[in-house]
Amino acid sequence: MKTLVLPPDQAALAYAKELIEAGEVVAFHTETVYGLGADARNDAAVRKIFALKGRPQDNPLIAHVHENYDISALVETPPYTAALRKAFLPGPLTMVYPSKGQVSPAVSCGLETLSIRVPASPTAQAFLRTVNVPVAAPSANRSKHVSPVTAQHVLDDFNGDIPLILDGGPSQGGIESTVLDCTGAVPQILRAGLVTREMIASVVGDCGVYHMRAGEKPRSPGMAYKHYAPGCRTAFFRAQNVEDAVRCYGREKSVGGTPYFLAEHAVCRTLSGYACFDLGSTPEEMAANLYAMLRAGECSATLLIGIEPCARGGVMDGVRNRLLRAFGQSEGDHET
Ligand code: TXA
Ligand code: MG
Repeated sequence: MKTLVLPPDQAALAYAKELIEAGEVVAFHTETVYGLGADARNDAAVRKIFALKGRPQDNPLIAHVHENYDISALVETPPYTAALRKAFLPGPLTMVYPSKGQVSPAVSCGLETLSIRVPASPTAQAFLRTVNVPVAAPSANRSKHVSPVTAQHVLDDFNGDIPLILDGGPSQGGIESTVLDCTGAVPQILRAGLVTREMIASVVGDCGVYHMRAGEKPRSPGMAYKHYAPGCRTAFFRAQNVEDAVRCYGREKSVGGTPYFLAEHAVCRTLSGYACFDLGSTPEEMAANLYAMLRAGECSATLLIGIEPCARGGVMDGVRNRLLRAFGQSEGDHET
């Protein structure tokens, strides 16, 4: 199959609608990462997403809708959720609600909840308005690979396997949406992202953060899997161990390898003369650069040497979570 990469003009949107109605998948831009979408009501179409990605059968998908879609047909909406929708949607916040069972059971992998996201990207909004059905979509990467933030990244993973990528340019947010469980009395963050705990608490007074305990069945199954891994060897060092990281770089070089550092701007400045991917200075810059640099790293480096950024809290929670997991580190090991 030929994979078309098209800007979201009228012809492309009409083709996308045709594909979705025929039970095909369509990749599309969002402001966080690109998604791989299918009609959430169509069992066979949803299963196609799992098959294409090689995604574990117990990791539920998010249903995406346009900003005027009436979600009360799909889910129960606890009263406090109205203020959150008003404050943050459309935007990078996914809310998990009690499901009314109106989409394929494959979307939520048999759970009694359904997660809904209203992306802000004009390309995503145009696509969702045109198809006017809930679109189940995970990130458009092969399972466990780094999430895609350009149409080219999607093509790198799925060229020839999907019919269409709606190209809205680079995803500026850079890390996936915050996933917020809204089934309890107080909302609880299942996956950190650009809408932070502090921002949510400022609207509804309180917001919990879910931490999976050892041996426990995860509330957000995706968090239990190794994720975001670049396709090259990796090493990881804490901020205070930069000298060890430099020795590691030297060893790789001495055996003919091509090492690269991946570090925040302040650290890169101290590493002049070394090959370095500079994540930037602010948490937002680091979020926007992380996946593109992990993907560039796997193309150029034999060994990608990550150095832990110093900042904590807010958007940095999401950035740290993705960075540590890309380098095979558990967050617990690195709390100080
Ligand atoms: O920014 C994003 O959220 C992107 C774009 C494409 O919208 N999507 C995305 O989807 O990151 P995915 O499938 O890669 O990650 C969805 C996460 C997983 O960790 C999954 O376990 C969790 O959301 N999730 C989905 N539905 C859930 C539910 N009903 N209950 C708990 N967790 C859920
Ligand atoms: Mg994903």
